[in-house]
Amino acid sequence: MTVTLITLSSDDWRFWRSMRLAALTEAPEAFGSRLADWIDADESRWRERLSIPGAIDLVARDSGTGSPLGMVTGTPAARRGAGAELISMWVAPAARGRGVATLLIDAVVTWAAASGAPRLELSVMAENERARRTYERSGFAVAAGSGDELTMTRAL
Ligand SMILES: CC(C)(COP(=O)(O)OP(=O)(O)OC[C@H]1O[C@@H](n2cnc3c(N)ncnc32)[C@H](O)[C@@H]1OP(=O)(O)O)[C@@H](O)C(=O)NCCC(=O)NCCS
Repeated sequence: MTVTLITLSSDDWRFWRSMRLAALTEAPEAFGSRLADWIDADESRWRERLSIPGAIDLVARDSGTGSPLGMVTGTPAARRGAGAELISMWVAPAARGRGVATLLIDAVVTWAAASGAPRLELSVMAENERARRTYERSGFAVAAGSGDELTMTRAL
């Protein structure tokens, strides 16, 4: 399988919506957002989500079939010296275990380093061992934990 990464704009909101609703349906325990928060969202809300200033929204597709495989967002540092953030990571179940998440993470790492952020951070549920392992393989380490949620960070 060859994978192509695409950077989305707000005009791609229908594509993002279909993947994001699939993610919130398939893995509700992995995300802070709930399906109920987004199922009835209108076009302007989806466009706003894809218009976070300075952010990057990426989708992985199978280069041969065009099928969507996974998604991720990088959001910029809130202030100078703060970390950029990786959010909304999801890989479709049929595409898992083939390095799609690792490709998406690598792309966000490259984007965050080019933006000048000193580190990249993310939140992961403590019980989400598969995601934690995937992030650890990509150089993230647990920095802090409060209850169910851990913060992981990677220097850039
Ligand atoms: C967590 C998640 C993103 C990982 O996606 P993924 O594409 O399966 O991740 P990768 O393929 O990069 O790595 C996962 C496994 O595949 C293996 N792998 C990685 N590259 C591989 C390759 N080229 N060929 C074969 N196997 C590979 C890894 O060793 C790893 O195995 P392990 O978990 O047993 O250690 C995915 O399971 C998911 O979307 N989960 C639900 C949503 C979620 O948890 N999101 C994260 C929120 S913080």
